[in-house]
Amino acid sequence: MNWKSARGRVLGLLTVGAVLAAAGCGGSSSGGGTAEPGSSAEGGGSGKTITIGFAQVGSESGWRTANTESIKAALTKENGFNLKFADAQQKPENQIQAIRSFIAQKVDVIAFSPVVTTGWDSVLEEAKTADIPVILTDRAVDVKDDTLYKTFIGSDFVEEGKRVGEWVDKNLGSKPINVVELEGTTGSAPALDRKKGFDGVVAGNPNIKIVASQTGNFTRSEGKQVMEGLLQSQKQIDVLFAHNDDMALGAIEAIEAAGKKPGEDIKIVSIDGVKDGMTALSQGKINYIVECNPLLGPDLAELAKKAVNGEAIDKRIVTHDDAFDQAGATAALPDRKY
Ligand code: AHR
Repeated sequence: MNWKSARGRVLGLLTVGAVLAAAGCGGSSSGGGTAEPGSSAEGGGSGKTITIGFAQVGSESGWRTANTESIKAALTKENGFNLKFADAQQKPENQIQAIRSFIAQKVDVIAFSPVVTTGWDSVLEEAKTADIPVILTDRAVDVKDDTLYKTFIGSDFVEEGKRVGEWVDKNLGSKPINVVELEGTTGSAPALDRKKGFDGVVAGNPNIKIVASQTGNFTRSEGKQVMEGLLQSQKQIDVLFAHNDDMALGAIEAIEAAGKKPGEDIKIVSIDGVKDGMTALSQGKINYIVECNPLLGPDLAELAKKAVNGEAIDKRIVTHDDAFDQAGATAALPDRKY
């Protein structure tokens, strides 16, 4: 590993902190708030401020909003961080620009959730040359050299798609069914992996036919628009697999507008488990949801501290995800945090 020694890093921190303070460059958008209850990020610890640049995907979904809130709540001044937050508006080129700006500002750590998997080698080389550790949150990158990032924390998206596929196979696959798939952002890790997991399972059941698969870019509006088109172009749709709740919710609007009952005439399975999705599941409009946990802020805070201190970190940290049917969603909703 080519990262600075812990001692060198601490000295660097003091210098960066002094320069930023002198230049009046305090946290640009820590968003206020406190760490989430039970967060291990509570309390600054060493008392030395860590400047961290975070390049977020955008604000495409309820999941993303919860993820951003979790990160901003954990990376506060009180917890020992100076957060520089950039919203890439779902454009990889904006993320690259944000990362370059973090490098120019000599932040201590860079974290980001890559919009798509490819195209990161050059900018991550630049971060490595500048000796700035990079933490991937939520989404993976496809790079030639995996020492370009320190660690990757997030869900196992292939497993999520597989669990949805298994539910469809078990509960609906005993007779011939036509499935339509609303994919996430083209080229993104969750879209690629969820499709791989789901398609892999249902391919083993000759009753299950995927008749159409189109991107809805993880947004409610595009989910609605694409579903409107599919309702017109497909003679028979029995099941919708949406790669996230927001697209499922948009599709529900389209299905209702077409005079059909979501959850009955067309069964719906989805991924995320945000409050709006869980509410639709509890109402019987969605039939099954596999959770994707967005509350990554406290773990990111811990990982950033370890990276700065030169401590050993696992290369891959997989977060825990539950799954819900109607009864499970109804029971979980009162305590749902996002
Ligand atoms: O990367 C996680 C995915 O991104 C979530 O499932 C989706 O809602 C978000 O946009």
